[in-house]
Amino acid sequence: MKTGPGAWFVQTGCFVCHSISVFKVRSRRKSGRTSRRRLRTSSRASGATLDDFIREPTGTMAVVLSRQIILTPEQKQVAVAKLREAFAEHQRQKAAGTAQPRRPLTIELAR
Ligand code: HEC
Repeated sequence: MKTGPGAWFVQTGCFVCHSISVFKVRSRRKSGRTSRRRLRTSSRASGATLDDFIREPTGTMAVVLSRQIILTPEQKQVAVAKLREAFAEHQRQKAAGTAQPRRPLTIELAR
């Protein structure tokens, strides 16, 4: 997990709250009562809105990116690129028929 294609998400700390299933990154937050919320990554990752979201996040991510994980503008660009990469990988797995059917989205939230 620390060296694979999902390593950035692990090193940056995103995986504390998010599992990135395409890269087989599993969130540390996995209690018995984990409820998963799927992120609307599919629409965001394919359009310009993902850049907007990372630059000006809302909700929980606004707090996360202003207090917990402080990213420079350059690092934010990396974040967007990594999310796009994850989405592209998801598309590829879907096309190949290897995507896990019950986990259609690239990034899912465990909490
Ligand atoms: C403390 C927990 C936490 C951490 C750490 C965290 N996130 Fe999130 N993230 C959330 C929550 C909760 C949401 C759901 C949106 C909300 O409720 O505000 C979210 C939503 C998102 C979304 C999707 C927004 C949408 O509506 O489609 C993206 C993209 C995202 N996070 C990326 C990241 C990235 C990249 C990192 C690492 C730099 C990260 N997150 C770290 C908790 C976290």
